[in-house]
Amino acid sequence: MTASGASIAPAPERIVPLPGYEVTIGRGTLLRAGAIAAATARAHHYALVTDANVAPHYAQRVRASLALAAPDARISLLLVPAGEEHKTRELWGHLTDELLANGAGRDTTVVALGGGVVGDLAGFVAATYMRGVPVVQLPTTLLAMVDASVGGKTGVDTPAGKNLVGAFHPPAAVVVDVDTLGSLPLRELRAGFAEVVKHGVVADARYFAEVEAVAPRLVAGDGTGDAAFVDIVARSVEIKASVVAADEREHGQRRILNFGHTLGHAIELVSGYRLLHGEAVAIGMTLEATIAERMGIAERGTSARIAAALEAVGLATTFPHRMEPRDVLEATRADKKARGGAVQYALPERIGAMSPQDGRWSVAVRDEDVLAALD
Ligand SMILES: NC(=O)c1ccc[n+]([C@@H]2O[C@H](COP(=O)([O-])OP(=O)(O)OC[C@H]3O[C@@H](n4cnc5c(N)ncnc54)[C@H](O)[C@@H]3O)[C@@H](O)[C@H]2O)c1
Ligand SMILES: [Zn+2]
Repeated sequence: MTASGASIAPAPERIVPLPGYEVTIGRGTLLRAGAIAAATARAHHYALVTDANVAPHYAQRVRASLALAAPDARISLLLVPAGEEHKTRELWGHLTDELLANGAGRDTTVVALGGGVVGDLAGFVAATYMRGVPVVQLPTTLLAMVDASVGGKTGVDTPAGKNLVGAFHPPAAVVVDVDTLGSLPLRELRAGFAEVVKHGVVADARYFAEVEAVAPRLVAGDGTGDAAFVDIVARSVEIKASVVAADEREHGQRRILNFGHTLGHAIELVSGYRLLHGEAVAIGMTLEATIAERMGIAERGTSARIAAALEAVGLATTFPHRMEPRDVLEATRADKKARGGAVQYALPERIGAMSPQDGRWSVAVRDEDVLAALD
């Protein structure tokens, strides 16, 4: 407790329990990834899957931690090229063939180290390899930490669309080392904050206020060494997990996680994927909150407060002036959330509470209301 640092406070660590597995969130946690993998998914062979951007920073650390925790196990490294364009059946096939050529048996655990692309791809390999082997998720982007690694969805893209082939395959464990955010490109870090802000809007006004207070500092720093990241990831994981769990009882509540995504997906698509998912969702949330205000569903000022929180982390919130509003409107119809012609929107009542709409948690919005918000 002295200024000389004679006693160093232990790094804060949070454990969020989910049905069937735990998410451990801390600083320097990758060093314990091997022990957690060995405890939750003991194997004779660990297949560490990671991408070309992540490997140079963290693969050695994870490999060493696996070797320490499971000295008799074989560890193989499977490297994939970085980027969404590689989240394909072809890469799934390559990885599977590599495992087969390696002689990997049912006593294999897949360890996915990277962003959502690696998590989804390696998770899908694990889901299908010999009818399913365990996967341990080690997410290294903010988006993967707060969204992709929670809920057990895995899969790949096809030319017909994103995430169209996949499997539900919950991990044996998720280990989040927030210090890995230190090497994440700033643009990716900012984009991840869109989902964090979303979690505040859909479920927890106090959390939203906390994010408002600390997020600007977190994007201004280099991403490392800030314990506030531990609390943020933990609360976001809790919120996503509780919404998904509530949905099993009350069908439809999960739709609130789509806030900002009806317009967000459309904007992402019309941008030709030049905008990152989170960048498009930031604009989508601001515009959907504007729609909610226009329809008298949301309190006045909701959209402005969401926009201010997003802008404070460096995200744009206005409709891209180069985009044609009609193109975006058309793109919302192609989205899978369009049912029976009418496009459904999950809309907020205020920060921290979504509009229940008699348990449907979504509402059809007229084209003129959408176009008015895009103007
Ligand atoms: N399964 C789900 O429930 C779910 C939910 C949301 C999103 N997703 C999926 O997640 C994917 C997007 O994930 P993402 O945003 O993490 O993208 P990503 O995996 O492509 O990572 C973004 C970029 O950052 C690099 N990177 C990752 N971690 C790094 C680090 N610590 N340091 C330096 N570079 C790093 C990657 O190599 C990549 O270039 C999409 O495919 C999406 O469909 C899945
Ligand atoms: Zn999203």
